[in-house]
Amino acid sequence: MTDEEPWRVGVLFSTSGVTSIIEKSQLKGAMLAIDEINDAGGVRGRPITPVCYNPGSVTSKYGELAEKLIREDRINVIFGCYMSSSRKEVLPIVERRNALFFYPTLYEGFEYSPNVMYGGATPNQNSVPLGNHLMECYGRRIYFVGSDYIYPRESNRVMRHVIRQGGGEVLGEEYLPLRATPSMFKDVVDRIMECKPDAIFSTVVGQGCINFYRAYHQAGGNGLDCPIASLTTNEAEIEEIGIEASEGHITAAPYFRNLSSASNTRFLSSYQAKFQSTSDVTSCCEAAYTQMHLFGMALEATGEMDADSLRASLLGTSFEAPQGTISVDPDNNHTYLHALIARVDKHGQFVIAHKVRQSIKPDPYLVYPAVNDWKFRTQKVESS
Ligand code: ACM
Repeated sequence: MTDEEPWRVGVLFSTSGVTSIIEKSQLKGAMLAIDEINDAGGVRGRPITPVCYNPGSVTSKYGELAEKLIREDRINVIFGCYMSSSRKEVLPIVERRNALFFYPTLYEGFEYSPNVMYGGATPNQNSVPLGNHLMECYGRRIYFVGSDYIYPRESNRVMRHVIRQGGGEVLGEEYLPLRATPSMFKDVVDRIMECKPDAIFSTVVGQGCINFYRAYHQAGGNGLDCPIASLTTNEAEIEEIGIEASEGHITAAPYFRNLSSASNTRFLSSYQAKFQSTSDVTSCCEAAYTQMHLFGMALEATGEMDADSLRASLLGTSFEAPQGTISVDPDNNHTYLHALIARVDKHGQFVIAHKVRQSIKPDPYLVYPAVNDWKFRTQKVESS
């Protein structure tokens, strides 16, 4: 490589298909960070150039395109994926080729790869807080609904444990295909209404999430009485669902667009200037933005794209992210993140209801029993 050549990174987020709503927000977060790095002079004087492919939300495509990036394009740093099924496709490829893969999405945990940097929340950072919040504020009878793939099934296994640890009960557990139609959700909602749970835990993703919330609203479901609680319903999905069908529902995430902090104000004004709107900014967008900056810092330090050198530099690194200070855990390649629980208000905006006082160490294998830990470290936010 000559001194003038750009640093090329691969980017695999879908701009079409069932999870494109959220993946487009991740793509924009990553692109914004690249612009910021390049505007500040690049890395060691060279710009970062993305090579982007659209997997179209087709699981197998993520693996095929990761292989193409590494073998044909000769790129060994890749950002991408939302669904855990797509990450599982990329995993063996980056491991075989010793590439470095940045995954900016919450997931079900129970995984470690030296070739992956995990930027999203693990269950101890989102499911444990959310399960406890539901039992404390709404009741202990919970109904589970998910899309049918690894993240919802594993995530529900963890949530079932959390609910039962807290003396609660899981009334039902249902899975729908990723591309489920609105009428399929109507049948599920009928069964939920009959059971009268205190809250619903949803791991439905993508377009299905929009259909589910709308079907619940049409059947008379009211978020203020019996909320749908989720880890995957972000600002971008709420915008699609619409205000009426969103009010009262709950999401747990490390970041919400409405956070008031200097770092978030900076991020949002930079995002607004590039994309003319911030309405689709989500926690996964923030994670993609943050991971790209972390990569830029590691590359500045090492001056090489080699996976082993970058990883060594990344471990332990801190960054002033829009959510607050985060850092990469040297024990497991995951990220210390904040934990917030927010409810959608009557204007369609997330309002923080519960938060931890400091970032939480990622515990992807749930080694530590976390229920009581969460209670001691949290602060309820008075509603205005
Ligand atoms: C997910 O599939 N990790 C949201």
